[in-house]
Amino acid sequence: MATWRAIIRGVIATVRSARKLDGEITVPGDKSISHRALIFGAIADGESHARGLSPGADVRSTAACVGALGIEIDGSTIAGRGLRGLRPSGGPLDCGNSGTTMRLLAGLLAAQDFESELAGDESLSRRPMERVVEPLTQMGARATWPPLRVGGGAGLHGIDYATPVPSAQVKSAILLAGLYAEGMTAVTEPFKTRDHTELLLGSMGGALRADGSRVEIQRAERLEPLDITVPGDFSSAAFWLVAGGLVGNSDVRLLGVGVNPTRTALADLLSSIGLRIRRKRPRLEASEPVADLQVRSAGELRAFRVERGMAAGMIDELPVLAVAATQAAGTSVIAGAGELRVKESDRLAAMEAGLTEMGADITVQDDGWIIKGPRRLEGARVDSAGDHRVAMALAVAALVADGKTEIDGAECVEISYPGFFDHLEYLC
Ligand code: S3P
Repeated sequence: MATWRAIIRGVIATVRSARKLDGEITVPGDKSISHRALIFGAIADGESHARGLSPGADVRSTAACVGALGIEIDGSTIAGRGLRGLRPSGGPLDCGNSGTTMRLLAGLLAAQDFESELAGDESLSRRPMERVVEPLTQMGARATWPPLRVGGGAGLHGIDYATPVPSAQVKSAILLAGLYAEGMTAVTEPFKTRDHTELLLGSMGGALRADGSRVEIQRAERLEPLDITVPGDFSSAAFWLVAGGLVGNSDVRLLGVGVNPTRTALADLLSSIGLRIRRKRPRLEASEPVADLQVRSAGELRAFRVERGMAAGMIDELPVLAVAATQAAGTSVIAGAGELRVKESDRLAAMEAGLTEMGADITVQDDGWIIKGPRRLEGARVDSAGDHRVAMALAVAALVADGKTEIDGAECVEISYPGFFDHLEYLC
């Protein structure tokens, strides 16, 4: 059971130990696909329809920025004005807490003949943006940071760029700029990241070619509008996959979840250590594979290792995977996850702090954690660090901890999953 209690600094969520989780839920629309549908719809020729957009604050930030660039959005309808139809915003664009908004818009706006400034909240203002400024500058764009200002320069030319870190946001920024660049633009990543940009732009008539971790794009003359239903967000479903596996006697059904293979490495890992996850009614929506997922409580879980190449495929799910590791028998090692230090919070530090408070045996490393289990967790007062995924991962830990856990700053679940605590209450 979760209850809400407002305090001056924000909201404390109280989550108690659960005996079982049972029920059927629909998680919010995929955040990554929702951002892309709004941004790509804005530069399509004519009206796009994107049903089931994420209701989270991050996607609302993108909608507000796209609106400020002169594009009308009414519910699921985006009145695209073509590749050259954006108007200057007349002030800094507020990306809020959303890295995806800032980095994807940086790529798109670097190619416009007017200058834009992209701003964000305190967390976003601390996050690294040179990773988009560098390739955009190489393409001939005007791009500086901080503050992040892009566009208003001469025309762009294609580049062949190897990204130092695997990042779908950086890849997407370069591909968006590539839509406007002379010749071919190519991006090669150290490990393949989520490919929603490639799938959506491809379905809009963009000339893309993907081969493993390399993608090439040609300059576009026009893009066709979208007509899609956004699948449920696997990264939100991940909290229930772990919770349903850890809490005894559980049976949780998650309807219409996106199961694009670039997103589902967590499900494969959880299955390999003993969780019972089933996929039902496989289908395609928005050029993306979708299925209903069912998870039932597992027996004993085995310890596991996550190495660098694996971390990129489950980057947003690692906080809740750390919770699973506290209940697995043996020493689990999560490595190659240094990127977690530059997410909405330093997720390596935030999860170590919260799980240590709850009695877990967890040691933080430069690029991951070493976690020894199984360990009985104790309810405690913990801090979300203002980070939605930390708040939700700690809530999952609270469901298997004795007594009650209070999560400080729990209102940040609004970023990706406004109904999270309602779903938690319903499943208990
Ligand atoms: C996202 C890419 C990932 C992920 C983020 C969403 C995207 O970030 O963590 O939540 O939609 O492209 P990076 O590109 O920084 O790894």
